Amino acid sequence: MSYKITNKKKLNFYIKTYGCQMNVYDSEMVAGLLTDKGYQNTTNIDNADIIIFNSCTVRQHAEDRVVGRITFEMRRKTEKPSLLIGLIGCVAQRVGKELIKKIHGLDFAVGTDNYKALPEIIRTCMAEKKQITSVGQNKNENYKNICPLRNEGINAFVTIMRGCDNFCSYCIVPYVRGRERSRDLEEIIREVEQAGKNGFGDITLLGQNVNSYHFGDCNFADLLGKVAHIDSIKRLRFVTSHPKDISEKVISTMAKEDKICEHLHLPMQAGSNRILGKMNRKYSIEHYYEIIKKLRKAMPDIVITSDIMVGFPGETEEDFQKTMSAVKKIGFDSAFTFKYSPRNGTAAEKYDNQIPEEIRLERLQKLFKLQEKITLQKYQEDVGKSMEVYVEQTSKKNKNELSGRTRGSKIVIFPGEKSLIGKLVNVKITNSTGWILRGKI
Ligand code: 5AD
Ligand code: SF4
Repeated sequence: MSYKITNKKKLNFYIKTYGCQMNVYDSEMVAGLLTDKGYQNTTNIDNADIIIFNSCTVRQHAEDRVVGRITFEMRRKTEKPSLLIGLIGCVAQRVGKELIKKIHGLDFAVGTDNYKALPEIIRTCMAEKKQITSVGQNKNENYKNICPLRNEGINAFVTIMRGCDNFCSYCIVPYVRGRERSRDLEEIIREVEQAGKNGFGDITLLGQNVNSYHFGDCNFADLLGKVAHIDSIKRLRFVTSHPKDISEKVISTMAKEDKICEHLHLPMQAGSNRILGKMNRKYSIEHYYEIIKKLRKAMPDIVITSDIMVGFPGETEEDFQKTMSAVKKIGFDSAFTFKYSPRNGTAAEKYDNQIPEEIRLERLQKLFKLQEKITLQKYQEDVGKSMEVYVEQTSKKNKNELSGRTRGSKIVIFPGEKSLIGKLVNVKITNSTGWILRGKI
């Protein structure tokens, strides 16, 4: 059914996004869908007529946070009984049916394949004052012809594929986001072109495993080559890469194309082959080292970041030390560190030898400290270098300063005129304070 709301005063929706960049993109897509139907986006929750939480379920903690926040925000309904509060995203997909029964006042729960129905669901919730759950999986849903509504800035995410077929044994994603499907090549090109024309010159291509993108005979390296030649954009990057799938051609395309940033997020997860095997990652740590070597040979200044997990079932002290050694040996520019969180329905949840919480936490703290030291060292090493910076905005703390990002996505603050926003400038790095670089044009 097609309709537009006709009230004189437009209804405001507010979206709070949790989790990965895929969710950020999905929120922008939902915002696009709703504005198209006459609703209005607000960044002030107090002005909202509809509050939408886009949720992440990758770890139990992420799920608990969003459920806690929804429960907390229910108090708003006392003052504004017409307010709608809804849940979308991976938590809705996984446990939406149960939550709608459990959380009194939750108006809708809509899973990751059903966003096109959201305007209609919202309309029905309002008109009929009933709760709606829509969590059916649709393996073909690729959200064709939907125009995401992006916030201000120069960074835009563009999803090139949805879902995942890898079934890493700890991971809930393939269960909630369904099977892998690649988006139409022409549509991706059009979307990137348009984003560039709208001033979003720093493009990040998104997918759970971008390296297995394929559309007709176009693979991921081919796609990168094509997108890198779009005139309206200045920079190109992509997440997430799987070490088992990253090809020589992707590495050589990265090295060859000026617009592709020397920046790669390559989740290692663990340094022990026994654990990598139990995780169903399908590569060895030696293979991982080999990729790092090739990347650094092709692009000596490449910034490499990673995801690393501790406390996977059966992880011995020796396995953990292998992860610590790998982290020392590789020297990631930065890394997200996690403690294993059992997810209902995954293979690893049923494994023997689950590691007690206090050991998981202890290992996480040790790993975090080690990586923090390496990260600070890496930032220090940038001092004295001249770097290309894409100017994003005036600095929040000082209006005479600008802030932007390097090709490796590190934040740089430097004195400069507002007119440089949206331009590429060369900045000489003078010092580094924590995770921020400072410099001079
Ligand atoms: N427990 C802890 N971390 C997890 N991740 C995925 N699933 C889990 C889990 N069950 C981490 C992985 C992945 C990142 C996005 O989240 O490191 O790369
Ligand atoms: Fe999860 Fe593995 Fe797929 Fe990443 S590649 S989403 S960790 S199953």
